[in-house]
Amino acid sequence: MHRRRYRRRMDQRTLDARIQRYYGGDFDEAARLTTGAVGRAELARVREVVSAHLSPGSRVLDVGGGAGAHATWLAAAGHAVTLVDPVPSHVESARTVGTFTAELGDARALVADDASYDAVLLAGPLCHLVTREERVRALREAARVLRPGGSVFAVGISRTIAALDAVLRRRFTGLPGPALVHLLETGEVLDEIRNPEGEFPGGHFHTGAELVDELGAAGFRDAWVTGLEGPASLALELSAPDDDVVDAALLLARRAEGDRGAADVSSHLLGIATR
Ligand SMILES: C[S@@+](CC[C@H](N)C(=O)[O-])C[C@H]1O[C@@H](n2cnc3c(N)ncnc32)[C@H](O)[C@@H]1O
Repeated sequence: MHRRRYRRRMDQRTLDARIQRYYGGDFDEAARLTTGAVGRAELARVREVVSAHLSPGSRVLDVGGGAGAHATWLAAAGHAVTLVDPVPSHVESARTVGTFTAELGDARALVADDASYDAVLLAGPLCHLVTREERVRALREAARVLRPGGSVFAVGISRTIAALDAVLRRRFTGLPGPALVHLLETGEVLDEIRNPEGEFPGGHFHTGAELVDELGAAGFRDAWVTGLEGPASLALELSAPDDDVVDAALLLARRAEGDRGAADVSSHLLGIATR
């Protein structure tokens, strides 16, 4: 039987250009974590899990920090925060907050000195780096700028939820079968999977095991992964931002903290490791 061939892997330069167009255009990254049900749960969980691991007055580098959703609460909690992002409009918005430093930069080549931070948050770049080599490079950079004993918090997007989302959005018709299989087998987001409304620029979606493996390959120790939105993630994807639904999902997510299976059915995975 004739098998449809997959498209060639997207080259990272094309993706980097798409990222600039997507985030530099109409998309309101600042609103993502405050308006939808998934975003609200994601923000709450990043905040509580990361806060639990930070000592007072930590030096935190927020890599791919966007318009500063996390940098804002980190700075308000008394940490000394620097945000780095490659999209100029994100950096401009972040600078208007005024409680932390924001500069242009790329996760794969940080300008920060060796061992100059207590914690690095990477809540964004990994899903926009197509190859394992590029992702491990970004994680190695995080390791380089961390002091020994410092912590990395690295967010990935779940490939299981991404595949389910693609199926549900198409209401089970006209499914891009080969691209879905490719996504589930490799994590690579081909154009056929990208949101038909032209959103998400593409990149890579993780499994929990893969995120732990990449953290280890970058030289981190004691890597583990937890789901951010937890086992009720899909309900959040499908629901309006109702407080009761978000609260119930958060309750479940906390109960499932550190459970690998629950991580894979969370929209976002958080990998935590020590330099
Ligand atoms: C989904 S947004 C997340 C923003 C923010 N951290 C948050 O959690 O709301 C992904 C971010 O990663 C940034 N990004 C994409 N490629 C990057 C790279 N190579 N290095 C650093 N940041 C990158 C984007 O500009 C964007 O701000």
